[in-house]
Amino acid sequence: MYLAKTIIQKNVEGNSHKEQLAIDVLTGLCAMPKNLPAKYFYDDTGSEVFQQITKHEDYYLTSTEFQILNRIKDQLPEEIGAQEIDIIELGAGDGHKSQLIIDGFLNANCKVNFYPIDISEKAMLMLSENMTPHPNLTINGVVAEYFDGLRTVRNQSKNRQLVLFLGSNIGNFDRVQNQGFLRRLWMSLNASDNVLLGFDLKKDVGVLTAAYNDSSGHTREFNLNILRRINAELGGNFNIDKFKHFGVYNPVLGAMESYVLSTEEQEVYVAELQRTFHFESYEPIHLEYSFKFTQGDIEFLCQQTGFEMIEQYSDEKNYFVDSLWKVVKEK
Ligand code: AVI
Repeated sequence: MYLAKTIIQKNVEGNSHKEQLAIDVLTGLCAMPKNLPAKYFYDDTGSEVFQQITKHEDYYLTSTEFQILNRIKDQLPEEIGAQEIDIIELGAGDGHKSQLIIDGFLNANCKVNFYPIDISEKAMLMLSENMTPHPNLTINGVVAEYFDGLRTVRNQSKNRQLVLFLGSNIGNFDRVQNQGFLRRLWMSLNASDNVLLGFDLKKDVGVLTAAYNDSSGHTREFNLNILRRINAELGGNFNIDKFKHFGVYNPVLGAMESYVLSTEEQEVYVAELQRTFHFESYEPIHLEYSFKFTQGDIEFLCQQTGFEMIEQYSDEKNYFVDSLWKVVKEK
């Protein structure tokens, strides 16, 4: 394995992942309307299917952000101006986008310590296979929840830090959660540290809808994988053929919404919960929000959460923005 070091952290609350999954499935399937937390998309299979989504032409987000990062990679070291930098990526991805940014700093003769943080060990392995070694680059993978991982990195280093939260991951939080997340990020960093955040912009509904209903059915597989996971890990008996993926844009929220719909009235038993769940015909389980932003939303968020906007980097079609912010603190 290429990663110089991989740090694996335990769940701080002491619950095993299986116990937590059981609690969340019980809570979500008892709720009205039913829901399941989107974090459960990303088991090993889900992480692989997500990589397929990101390569699909209908899912424009990844290729568009890649173009932006490729264009700005040599500007970032100038904007940030450090001799040695810790680049901390929340959510490891496949490493291609991080590699672009790292290359920009290495080309500017900067020493880079790269800390990808991800809950999935498999995602970390996929990333490590894609990174190119360089004498001025160290890589330390951290398998942990984002803020636990960030604390680990902070305890190890006094360097300037650049946190990457790319791919519109921030869009999977609602508008209250994203402020909470950014305030927590602000608390975890020092004055003058930077963050680079990827935001998907509001656009034609046809383009959005196609991205979340890709023509090869990867998004469908991605969503139904949650039910497969409940079957495999909690002894559920979901019949996957009796559920259907449904991705739709909600213009009031400004978000894509992902559901699976029960195509008929049915009962589903989950052995670990010793409980049967009833589904009406076409009853939804809500799985995910993917919020979309305007440039004004991004400026507002930045200012509200204690950062200063350095630059908004967009693409020709104005589909996506990578926004560079600086942490501001009072003395
Ligand atoms: C990870 N996240 C930014 C993706 C998104 O666009 O909301 C997850 C995804 N869901 C369906 N397709 C992609």
